[in-house]
Amino acid sequence: MSTQQFDVVVIGGGPGGYIAAIRAAQLGFNTACIDEWKNDKGGPAPGGTCTNVGCIPSKALLQSSEHYEHLNHHFAEHGITADNVQIDVAKMLARKDTVVKQNNDGILYLFKKNKVSFFHGRGAFVGAKDGLYEISVNGTPTLAAKHVVVATGSNARALPGTPFDEERILSNDGALRIGASSGAAPKKLGVIGAGVIGLEMGSVWRRLGAEVTVLEGMPTFLAAVDEGVAKEAAKVFKKQGLDIQLGVKIDGIKTSKTGVTVSYADAKGEAKTLAVDKLIVSIGRVPNTIGLNVEAVGLKLDERGAIVVDADCKTNQPNVWAVGDVVRGPMLAHKAEEEGVAVAERIAGQHGHVDFDIIPWVIYTSPEIAWVGKTEQQLKAEGRAYKAGQFPFMANGRARALGDTTGFVKMLADAKTDEILGVHIIGPFASELVAECVVAMAFKASSEDIARICHAHPSLSESTKEAALAVDKRTLNF
Ligand code: FAD
Ligand code: NAI
Repeated sequence: MSTQQFDVVVIGGGPGGYIAAIRAAQLGFNTACIDEWKNDKGGPAPGGTCTNVGCIPSKALLQSSEHYEHLNHHFAEHGITADNVQIDVAKMLARKDTVVKQNNDGILYLFKKNKVSFFHGRGAFVGAKDGLYEISVNGTPTLAAKHVVVATGSNARALPGTPFDEERILSNDGALRIGASSGAAPKKLGVIGAGVIGLEMGSVWRRLGAEVTVLEGMPTFLAAVDEGVAKEAAKVFKKQGLDIQLGVKIDGIKTSKTGVTVSYADAKGEAKTLAVDKLIVSIGRVPNTIGLNVEAVGLKLDERGAIVVDADCKTNQPNVWAVGDVVRGPMLAHKAEEEGVAVAERIAGQHGHVDFDIIPWVIYTSPEIAWVGKTEQQLKAEGRAYKAGQFPFMANGRARALGDTTGFVKMLADAKTDEILGVHIIGPFASELVAECVVAMAFKASSEDIARICHAHPSLSESTKEAALAVDKRTLNF
């Protein structure tokens, strides 16, 4: 097979890779993207972890399970009741799979539209010659390019000695397929790790009827989240029935045909056991360079296995770039995308830029948790003088009309300049509300800027304005 030459070859078609490829093509580069993900028929399924076993399917199940929860527990207060509410988990999973396929197909369409050449298979470095990198697809040297963008993502981290079997011990992959054969939620579900996946997937299966126990190693709940928000979240999740145990130490895990038994020491050091039908292990993710043959070109990895890059996503090799989960920084789809765009622009000689200080985070539980910038505890640790303003959704007309008044918006601003330093939201549509705050911080807005801007009434966004007013101790509705 003759080698095809490209200006840019992107290895990995997740949010980092497919977006980098599209942006490179937009900028006039002859671009190829290689992705190995297979759908259940063996065909291409670009979109990576995010589309196939991450952001998209988890949000589909969060939505379905929330409808079920509302019908069972919240619609009655609106005067809507239904008898004999049924749940068909297999159908719910099939809908999720359809949503995933729509996204896979959407990416293949975007590749065509932008004239990105797509190769389905595993990409690997073969070597470098005359300023060109040679790349194989499924073992056959096929492509050559001046620039290579590595976007090979991450994999779930297993507990030492307890590999994922996706039947009893589940990664995010299996966690999104529970009930595929039985058509029902498990009776008892264990989760190790009260991080983002643990809380989101724990919420899905709790809403669908499972008794969920979450075992977390750290003594603090959601340590990276603003303390006030984490405290509120712990209270709400407990009320919902999630049993979250902090400060545990996992001693052993045994599987049988019928279930899983976890032996652990609780926060007081007392030996405990937890017997469950299934166990989700969500203790973080590891960068993925499996099969990439980085040695062929001498790409440097750090002790976590991440590709070493500088702030501009440049690796230690000329014209080899790396973005997304396979490099340092938060493992978030939008961070991967921003890096992908910035790298394509840098290849074009432009000044691609990612502001790592204002990458928003969202946890899609109910209530949602979203934030941008510094937490109150970070500001205290830095010794930075700040003012805080907080406004509860309880005092917001739209939240009352929605029947969803849990939580608040909290804004932190510099004590002297009033520049917004962080915004922390727990409550309805926090994922959407945080966008205004990211824009404000990108433009170095002050809390007074937000306070002086007209926000539609009645809207949840008025709570952001009121939180800004609260920074100056002059809320109007609380
Ligand atoms: P990936 O999405 O992992 O894509 C890498 C791609 O490269 C994959 O398709 C892989 O098959 C392919 N690949 C790897 N090696 C090769 C090779 N050698 N040759 C060819 N192809 C290769 N983030 C959010 O921002 N919001 C969310 O709501 C969210 N929810 C999540 C829920 C779950 C359950 C999980 C697990 C993650 C979630 N994330 C979320 C994180 C998000 O999925 C990742 O941050 C994101 O997918 C990273 O993008 P990426 O392009 O770096 O890698
Ligand atoms: P995580 O880092 O969010 O949480 C892992 C949790 O497991 C931590 O609280 C940690 O203290 C705990 N832990 C680690 N080892 C443990 C052990 N041995 N015993 C008990 N607890 C232990 O990782 P998670 O949930 O696996 O998700 C991985 C990443 O995927 C996230 O960090 C995030 O980047 C991304 N993601 C993003 C989502 C979003 O943006 N909404 C949704 C889901 C995942």
